[in-house]
Amino acid sequence: MSTASEAIRFSDGDAYERFMGAWSRLVGASFLAWLAPAPALRWLDVGCGNGAFTSLLAERLEPLSIAGIDPSEQQLAYARAQPSLREAQLLQAGAMELPFGAAAFDSAVMPLVLPFVPVPGRGWPRWRGWCALGAL
Ligand SMILES: C[S@@+](CC[C@H](N)C(=O)[O-])C[C@H]1O[C@@H](n2cnc3c(N)ncnc32)[C@H](O)[C@@H]1O
Repeated sequence: MSTASEAIRFSDGDAYERFMGAWSRLVGASFLAWLAPAPALRWLDVGCGNGAFTSLLAERLEPLSIAGIDPSEQQLAYARAQPSLREAQLLQAGAMELPFGAAAFDSAVMPLVLPFVPVPGRGWPRWRGWCALGAL
């Protein structure tokens, strides 16, 4: 039996946009409406992919800063080309090896990523102090 991470490859930001982008933004908008976060926070988007959800953070929340990480350089390349993410810090990294210090963020999210992380709990201690708001 294959795992979700073996079965699905995230190697094309355009393809992700065609098949998933609109759905990601749709569910992401509901997620943010439910969270109702304060403005001017420092956000981390773990597994930001092609930036579909990350752009909602930029466009709707008046963030102080946005960082996103994802293992896929192809997805990140698409995200870096989005006008709303011009000022975001978008780095290649995985959820189990978060390349940030403990006080780097106010809020961290991980939308539509959990099934793809081999050991989801690894690295989460680093989330303490970031007011980890939610993972879908
Ligand atoms: C379904 S997409 C979700 C992308 C984005 N969060 C969204 O809402 O559109 C899953 C993402 O998880 C990323 N991913 C896979 N393994 C990961 C890991 N170990 N740590 C962080 N992200 C991972 C993939 O590269 C992909 O971009």
